This record gives sequence, C-alpha cells and structure tokens, in this order.
Amino acid sequence: MKVVTTPAEIQMLAGQYRSKGLIIGLVPTMGWFHEGHLSLMREARKKADKVIVSLFVNPMQFGPAEDLDSYPYDLDRDCKLAEEIGVDLLYAPAKGVMYPQKFATTVHVEGLTSGLCGESRPGHFDGVTTVVAKLFNQTLPHFAVFGEKDFQQLAVIRQMVADLDFPIEIIGHPIVREDSGLAMSSRNTYLKDNEMAAAHSLSKGIELAKTLVKNNRGISVQQLIERVSEDVTSHRKCDIDYIEIVDKNTLDPCKQVSVDSVLVMAVKINGRIRLIDNSILIAC
Ligand code: PAJ
Repeated sequence: MKVVTTPAEIQMLAGQYRSKGLIIGLVPTMGWFHEGHLSLMREARKKADKVIVSLFVNPMQFGPAEDLDSYPYDLDRDCKLAEEIGVDLLYAPAKGVMYPQKFATTVHVEGLTSGLCGESRPGHFDGVTTVVAKLFNQTLPHFAVFGEKDFQQLAVIRQMVADLDFPIEIIGHPIVREDSGLAMSSRNTYLKDNEMAAAHSLSKGIELAKTLVKNNRGISVQQLIERVSEDVTSHRKCDIDYIEIVDKNTLDPCKQVSVDSVLVMAVKINGRIRLIDNSILIAC
C-alpha cells in the first residue's frame, strides 16, 4: 500500500488508473479506524480495481468548541489496518495542502443541512461537503462508500453529487455495531468505563422504539419520542441533543410511523462526548 500526501500526486495516480480503464473506489475517513471504517473498505475492495482511502481530520467541519484537537490520530496504526484489507492508496494530506492560505470556496447544500446535526453543529455540513467535493476531484473515483451511521451526512452528499453532477456512484453501507449494540465510532475511544452504560442508551433507545412499533403499529411519533427520551435521560450522564423520527429521503419530521421512518438521535455523554445513532423503525 502506498501512502500519498499531496493532491497533485493522488490526482496523477488516479488519472493513470483511469487511463488504464481501472475502476476506482474511494472511502473518505478521518482515521482512527474501527470495524465500521474497515467494512466500508472491504465493500470498496469487492467492487473496485483500485481502492483509495482518504484520511484527513478536516478542521473545516469542527466547530470552535469541538474536539478537533483531541480527535484520535495514529497514521501507522491506520496504515497497518488499511493494508490488511488490501487498500491500494492511503491518501493522508496535510491541513496546509488541503486548505492553502488563499482558500476561499465553500460547498453548501441547502435544506437537508438545516436540522438535526446541522442545527446543533452550525457550519459542520459545509465543512463536510467542501472537503468531500475536494476529495472527489483529487481522487477521481467511480464510486465512493459512506456509512449509514452518519445518516444525514449520507443524504447531504447524495444531494451534492446530484446537484453538482459528480459522475460518482454513492454507496451507503449499514452501521457496524459492537456486540453490545453500541454503534462503532472513533469517538467511542473517549468513553470511560463509567460512561459505557450511558453510551449504550442510544442503541437501547432504538431497540425500545422498534419493539414499541412492532407491538403497536398505531403508536404516535410523539409517544415514541417521549418513551425513548425518558429512557435515555434516565441516565444522568446523558443530555439529548435531538431525538427525532424523520423520513429517510427528505429528513423531514414524520407525522406517523411508516416504512420510511428513521429514528435519528444525538446524545452528549457527560457534556463531552457527542454520539449519534439511527435506525429504520420498521424492517422491510
Ligand atoms: P469518519 O467519522 O471517520 O467516518 C468515515 C466513514 O465511516 C463515514 O462514511 C461514516 O459514516 C463511516 N462510519 C463511521 N462509523 C461507522 C459505523 N459504525 N458503521 C458504518 N460506517 C461507519 O464521516 C467522516 O469521517 C467525515 O465527515 C468525512 C466524510 C470523512 C469528511 O471529512
């Protein structure tokens, strides 16, 4: 596996692959790989001739009071993990080459970015879409794989790709969970032992909601949100950022539960660790 650190070099290599007719698959990440990331890489490996994984802790998507400075990072560790999957290129650009001093462009998607994480993290999705647009132009992929863990992010990227005519297929990949149900996340590394029960309240809340819907198809959205919220806040370490039931395509709040309804949630543990999770409520 080759490690590449500049836009010029990755673009040159990607151009060479393309001129040979090879299919390029991209997996964008911020590193500190876990099984969630690795499953996206395996998915790309199955479909691509050349798999490029980008690893860039993107300062533009972090707010001023967020965890940019403490975000876990270990390039050697991540290189070994990516190599084991059979990744061809690990693209790890430095901040200065991604955002040189005169950088002046922002990619903004209207609408889908206004609620949920977009509301509690102003500017976050502009950072995501700007960096992903850059990564697409640098790595020239035929397809890119994103996790459904970041449900809103996936919807926003699909919208950007459609609106800006990127000739790139966006593939969504299911959430990978610990055996306990906790959705894997690089941020789980911040959790202390005495915070684990609180962290599990997200996936437990999702299971509760699914059971309630299974036992009572007529249950209202309001009742469901109340029951899950009660369960989550029974852990005094949990502060709910949002718990909502939204349409899987538009992200608009659902009036009633249907096969298109997704429970989405963000919870802060001990005021420090913001975790997100989501699930479709009715399995097809
Ligand atoms: P990061 O949080 O590192 O996630 C990289 C990719 O891994 C995303 O597509 C995310 O949805 C996926 N992922 C994370 N945890 C997962 C899990 N438990 N199961 C399945 N997939 C999972 O998302 C970002 O980075 C950034 O915003 C990025 C798109 C790279 C732009 O900077």
